[in-house]
Amino acid sequence: MNREEAILREFNLYPLWQRRGQATFTSVLEQVTSQSVMEKADLQNLDSCNWAELKALVKNCAACKLRASCTQTVFGMGDERADWLFVGEWPGADEDVQGESFVGQSGQLLDNMLAAIKLKRGHNVYITNIVKCYPPGNRSPETDEIAQCAPYLEREIQLIQPKLIVALGETAALLLGHDATLSDLRGKLHDYRGSSSHSLVKGIPLVITYHPAYLLHNPLKKAKAWDDLCLAVATMQALA
Ligand code: URA
Repeated sequence: MNREEAILREFNLYPLWQRRGQATFTSVLEQVTSQSVMEKADLQNLDSCNWAELKALVKNCAACKLRASCTQTVFGMGDERADWLFVGEWPGADEDVQGESFVGQSGQLLDNMLAAIKLKRGHNVYITNIVKCYPPGNRSPETDEIAQCAPYLEREIQLIQPKLIVALGETAALLLGHDATLSDLRGKLHDYRGSSSHSLVKGIPLVITYHPAYLLHNPLKKAKAWDDLCLAVATMQALA
């Protein structure tokens, strides 16, 4: 068995994780666009802040009720000038305790997915989430909670300027500007449309694939996830 086969075998981690309820977030984009949930002044601060300021803004954020019940905010992690950006959904219980994105079982699978395409977290790879706080009981975040957090992701993208974004799951795809079922979205190349009308960075190639937590529960979909990762690699190679 070669190394890649061994890594792909690792995709078969035990499906212990429960897939969280699939939320419908059809009004999220409207909410972010209307800026009704975040003051314009805050958005202007965000548009010009540096990494340290952005981290402080997220750390001190109490814009929605999630912060009151979680242990800490969970900021993105990795190479802040990475070519590769992976965007997940929201921190789980493990991430809430450790304060780092994707450290639980789905994080292990994500690491294996990265290794399968010869990537490693922290090395030309940045990993973040749409929502920065763990929702109580791992419930799906509510529309206003997602809308409050969306500008933070937008600023992370502006600062990183990745060459390619991989959205993990339907919710991540929605916030990156694509509202459809995952089976319709995966397997093709999209572009990042921004999460709001004030988005400054648009047009970054975007590949949408299954969330690792979903793959843990639906291992037969791993072959399709592999195809999506290959599409991401081919796209990156064509950009080089
Ligand atoms: N699932 C996510 O989407 N993000 C994490 O950080 C952990 C689990």
